[in-house]
Amino acid sequence: MSLHQKVKRITTHVLHEMKLREEKIAMLTAYDYSIAKIIDQAGIDVVLVGDSASNVMAGNDSTLPITLDEMIYHARSVVRAVKRALVVVDLPFGTYQGNSIEALQSAIRIMKETGGHAVKLEGGAELLDSIKRIISSGIPVMGHLGLTPQSIHKFGTYVVRATEEDEANKLIEDAHHLEDAGCFAIVLEKIPADLAESVAKAVKIPIIGIGAGSEVDGQVLVLHDMLGITQDFSPRFLRRYHNLKTEIHGAVENYINDVRTVNFPNKNEQY
Ligand code: KIV
Repeated sequence: MSLHQKVKRITTHVLHEMKLREEKIAMLTAYDYSIAKIIDQAGIDVVLVGDSASNVMAGNDSTLPITLDEMIYHARSVVRAVKRALVVVDLPFGTYQGNSIEALQSAIRIMKETGGHAVKLEGGAELLDSIKRIISSGIPVMGHLGLTPQSIHKFGTYVVRATEEDEANKLIEDAHHLEDAGCFAIVLEKIPADLAESVAKAVKIPIIGIGAGSEVDGQVLVLHDMLGITQDFSPRFLRRYHNLKTEIHGAVENYINDVRTVNFPNKNEQY
């Protein structure tokens, strides 16, 4: 029996063991109680309360506007639902880049006010003081390298990152720095599959890819993208497992029609 089937609760230690046993880690985003409950019961290993909530939940065109209070609201709802998965919460833009004390205070608020199990932040060597400070206070940290959406205005575009040697070398160095600082895992977003594979082989901590090929230790997708609720964005790495936008649209049309034609409620649906 695989490890994730045996354990009652996924911890950072279980993820590490999964990497050692070459068992792939499945991670998805969730921002609310009802969805988090479904994906936890389906057996997801890691639930990410991503700052992609800024796009998906709030309709912003980047992850930058979401606040710590808003992330805490989403994370608290998710944590109430999740019984088995590890819940990782994104530190939003502007709550950890200033200095390591600010980073620690933000991470502590997330842990205290949500009951989440770990935080995630974007960046490499420049964040080591903050990462070490957070980890030394007992909070597990997941890193995030490659396409880091909080830096979109620096990149100017969402194209694949680290295709040039310099950026690829920096990414490999950053992955080592994050591992040495004590991160328990790293998300690699939208980078060449060969590079992601070599990072996964070079470090002992799990590497979770999104647009980083199959030769990493696990995968993450934004749930609303993979279910086809959001459809204005179709990167190559995104596999759609459903077309919920069309299904929801159709169901709502049927409901409107039933209300208008007094087909709903019927005799059995009233008191
Ligand atoms: O916020 C998010 O959803 C993420 C994933 C894309 C990894 O960081």
